[in-house]
Amino acid sequence: MPEIFIDGHPVQAEPGQSVLQVALANGFYIPYFCWHPALSVAGNCRICCVQVEGRSWAEISCNLPVTEGMRILTDSDVVREQRRATLQFITLNHPVDCGICDKAGECTLQDYHYAYNGRPSISLEPKVRADKFHALSGRILLDNERCILCSRCVRFTREKSKSHALGIKRRGDESLLRAAEDHALDTDWYSDNIIDICPVGALLSRSFLYKARVWYLQPVPSVCPGCARGCAVDLWVRKPQWRLKSLAAKQNTSIMRVTPHGTPGIDGPWICNKGRDLARIFERPRALQALRKGQPVEYGVAVVAARKLVADAKRAVALVSNWGSNEQLTAFRDRLGTRFTVYIKHDHMPQSGEPVEDDFLIRADKNPNTAGAVALFGARSDRAAEFPADTDLVLVWGEGCDFTRLPRGVKIVFLNAYLQPENGHADVFLPVTIQMERPGHYTNGDGVVQAFVAAVAPPPGVADAATLFAALAASEVIPA
Ligand code: SF4
Ligand code: SF4
Ligand code: FES
Repeated sequence: MPEIFIDGHPVQAEPGQSVLQVALANGFYIPYFCWHPALSVAGNCRICCVQVEGRSWAEISCNLPVTEGMRILTDSDVVREQRRATLQFITLNHPVDCGICDKAGECTLQDYHYAYNGRPSISLEPKVRADKFHALSGRILLDNERCILCSRCVRFTREKSKSHALGIKRRGDESLLRAAEDHALDTDWYSDNIIDICPVGALLSRSFLYKARVWYLQPVPSVCPGCARGCAVDLWVRKPQWRLKSLAAKQNTSIMRVTPHGTPGIDGPWICNKGRDLARIFERPRALQALRKGQPVEYGVAVVAARKLVADAKRAVALVSNWGSNEQLTAFRDRLGTRFTVYIKHDHMPQSGEPVEDDFLIRADKNPNTAGAVALFGARSDRAAEFPADTDLVLVWGEGCDFTRLPRGVKIVFLNAYLQPENGHADVFLPVTIQMERPGHYTNGDGVVQAFVAAVAPPPGVADAATLFAALAASEVIPA
């Protein structure tokens, strides 16, 4: 293993590593724009320069392989002057419209400017104007004036999503990032990752545009339930101390955006666009009223009625949700499992137009916890279920049940979080929480167990399914 010296400190390097990789791995600070740990090296932004002792010039560290005994300076006068000049060049035609830029607060160009330049432009020429709000796709807008032509987004579409949807055309100060004419970015199911990796505010999410300043938001660690990959994500919601008083209360509990949590080994720094759109899943109209034969009743009354149905049943079948957490599934098994013949229900199936599976992240099972349910109940899927002939009660937990397939005349207890017509057809309907309102764990399709935490408080009138299972098995009623 080569030993090199960074700012006088000896560090061990792996053969083939660049100076930038070794420096970052050992806690030394070197700025970078175009380099990304999961993409190829482009070496075009020049901000990552360092000085090799004994040389009078600075050179880029992201494309400088380590050699035995190499001595590197990361913050010499030569380096600082080179970085200052580079930032003057990069901001030559930059609009500096940070006040209205969604990247403000997360922008490395802002950070590096104040660290290494901090001066107004020395150029006497007017700035070259370029397109603002150029529509790259139905999901992404491009501000060409902010683009520093680092090519990260281009490399992502070539090396990761393989859509080849982006390129840079023309030369010099006329250079423009553009979508390829024959490869639409709209058909790239991973396109929104380029918004994350753009080091400046050039790539803008239409769904997040001007919605919130990032410093008013907090990331809540969660797990995408969109498929069995179970990508680790952050749900961004407003910080409690920055709740809005004058707008609709929903603004304070909405998911403003979803980004990858960056867990090594699961999905790394990437997620698909379905994961970005979790608000469309979680923020559907909620069921907030307990029902008995379609009529509103107090929650406790509904629980008593459901408990009596369970107690009176001679042959009870349960269709358990593979959107239930490991904790909820375990609660069902421990409290009610012996009273029911259990089948695992697939709450969600692939939707029309949705990719079923690919060789990157997306998995065919569109549910987060089939593996967790199988571990507890075996691989008995409701899709192959033959209900016992004498079935007289079915407990349906979650979405995705075709009620027309249930045996005629059976009693139905239904636990669901969203408004749907079937709620009113059940003998007893009990509204329950959704994932972002409670903590828990899912087991993904590869057997990896991951935790999620509550992002918001549950609305009044709903209960955690695990609490309900205890209530249905107990002699005392536990109120919602
Ligand atoms: S849009 Fe962003 S990621 Fe793409 S080249 Fe420009 S600065 Fe780089
Ligand atoms: S690949 Fe699956 S788990 Fe990952 S973000 Fe997409 S839908 Fe969610
Ligand atoms: S990070 Fe090295 S040249 Fe851009």
